[in-house]
Amino acid sequence: MTLIRSLRRLLAATALSAVALSAAHAEDLTIGFSQIGSESGWRAAETKVSKIEADKRGIDLKIADAQQKQENQIKAIRSFIAQGVDAIFLAPVVATGWDAVLAEAKEAEIPVVLLDRTIDTPDESLYLTAVTSDTVYEGKVAGEWLAEKTAGKCAIVELQGTVGSSPAINRKKGFDEAIAVHAEMKIIRTQSGDFTRAKGKEVMESFLKAENGGKNICAVYAHNDDMMIGAIQAIKEAGLKPGSDILTISIDAVPDIFKAMADGEANATVELTPNMAGPALDAIIAYKKDGTVPPKWIQTESRLYLPDTAAAEYDARKDLY
Ligand code: AHR
Repeated sequence: MTLIRSLRRLLAATALSAVALSAAHAEDLTIGFSQIGSESGWRAAETKVSKIEADKRGIDLKIADAQQKQENQIKAIRSFIAQGVDAIFLAPVVATGWDAVLAEAKEAEIPVVLLDRTIDTPDESLYLTAVTSDTVYEGKVAGEWLAEKTAGKCAIVELQGTVGSSPAINRKKGFDEAIAVHAEMKIIRTQSGDFTRAKGKEVMESFLKAENGGKNICAVYAHNDDMMIGAIQAIKEAGLKPGSDILTISIDAVPDIFKAMADGEANATVELTPNMAGPALDAIIAYKKDGTVPPKWIQTESRLYLPDTAAAEYDARKDLY
C-alpha cells in the first residue's frame, strides 16, 4: 500500500493529473464504502443495492459496517486510505467531526463521495460530491400533508432520528417550517428514537403514557418508517387504532410501512431511494475516466405515497428489502 501511495505522489510530482493516476476501466476500480450499520430496513436495503450496483459495473466495493459509531467510520476510512483504494464512499452517521480524516483522504488523492447524509464542513473540497435527497424538503412534504389532512389543527408527537445526523436535523427543520404557519398545529413531545424500530416503540410508549394514554395525540411524525413501525405497535398495545385514532406520517417508503398502510394502520410515507450507490458509482467512473467533475450535489427524488397505492408498492418492493 505504501508503494501505491508513493507511486501516486511520484506521478503527481511529474504533473500527471489525478485522472491519469486512476484506473481507466470500471472493472479495475476498488472502492471502500464506510456504511453506518443496519439500524433500519432502509439502511439494509441501501447496503444490498450498493452491492448490486457495484457488481453490475464490475467494481470491487469493500463495505465496512461501523455499527453506528463515528470512531469506527474514521478507522475504516484510514484503513481504506492505507489500502490505496480508488475512491471512498461515506454515509456519515453524524454531520460533524470529519474534517481531519477527510483531509487525510484528500492528501492521499482519494476522492470521497458522501452517500445519503451530508456533513458540516467549512471546506467543501474535502469531498467530490454528495448523493442525497433533499431532507429538508422531505420534512416539509410530511408537514404539509399533515396540515392538509387535519385542516391545520393537530397535536403532534415526533420521533427524531439519530441525534446530530443530517436527516434528523433537516427533517425536523422542514417539518417545523411547514407547520409553523398553522397556529393550531403543535409538536407536544419530541425525542430521538435513533432511527430504530425498538427505540421508536419505547419512546412512543412513553409519549402515550404522558399524553393521557394517547388520547391527547392527533398524529405521530417519525423521521423514518422503522421508528413508525415500532410506534404503531405501541399504539396498538395501548388499545388505540394507528391510522385513525392517531395519524401517522414517516419517511423512507420501506415495504413494512406499505403493508401497514394497506392494512389501514399507517397514513403516509415520503420515499427515500435506497439506490444512492448507482449515481455515486457513475460519478466516480466518469471522474476517473476523463476527469469529469460531478455537481457538488446529486439529488435523488422524494415522493409522497398514500394508502391508495400501498398494496402495489409493497409488492413492487418486498424482494428488494
Ligand atoms: O440517512 C437516511 C436515514 O438513515 C434513513 O431515513 C433511515 O432509515 C436511516 O437509518
